[in-house]
Amino acid sequence: MGSPQIIAIDGPAGSGKSTVGKLVAEHLGYLFFDTGVMYRAVTLAVIQQGIDVHDEVLVSNIAETIDIGLQTPSILDGRDCDILLDGKDVTWDIRSPEIDGSVSIISAYPRVRQILSEKQRRIGLQGRVVMLGRDIGTVVLPEADLKVYLDASVEERARRRYLERIKRGEKVDYDLILTMLRERDQIDSTRKIAPLKPADDAIVINTDGLNIQQVFESVLALIEKDRVQ
Ligand code: DC
Repeated sequence: MGSPQIIAIDGPAGSGKSTVGKLVAEHLGYLFFDTGVMYRAVTLAVIQQGIDVHDEVLVSNIAETIDIGLQTPSILDGRDCDILLDGKDVTWDIRSPEIDGSVSIISAYPRVRQILSEKQRRIGLQGRVVMLGRDIGTVVLPEADLKVYLDASVEERARRRYLERIKRGEKVDYDLILTMLRERDQIDSTRKIAPLKPADDAIVINTDGLNIQQVFESVLALIEKDRVQ
């Protein structure tokens, strides 16, 4: 058998999904697709249009009408790809603390999830993809050939986010990051539709105390195991 065609990597914020997913995709020559950017793009559109994030109907209408585009990077500034919202580059705008603070609220809305999950599924089914999210192995692509669930304690994840932001030159407060991560974990894992949890057939890797290279190697070992089976 060849390498798994569809690789799902799920897990909470700061579990190392993006960094590891990128390395795996690069190694295999696969498409890297972080589905969180779609929820972030909807949140940005909602805020830009002055809509209350708690207005489920209006927010869901926005998810239906906006155009979210992903394309190869047009600027070499550390981005993995360009994220376009109705044709406008919003790659960095979707990473603001304001978006972090609201994205979990809108991603709990069933209609928003349905619209975005269908788009994600269409891309994923084309294969040769490493897809990241919260529900890829459970809902979006339950037929994924390999499902990995990365986990880590909330303190360790907050520490990673803190260091990332310091590196980007941002002014940050560790305790605030920790509180916001706890809030997002709570919303993401208790929502009724597609809550954050490992699929029954996912391999869970706890990344506490592991560096990126070690996690990358663990995932490669799983891919190799899958390949020879
Ligand atoms: O991975 P991230 O931090 O960029 O994700 C942003 C939010 O989007 C996160 O709080 C939960 C939501 N999300 C989701 O519900 N399902 C996904 N497949 C991906 C992200």
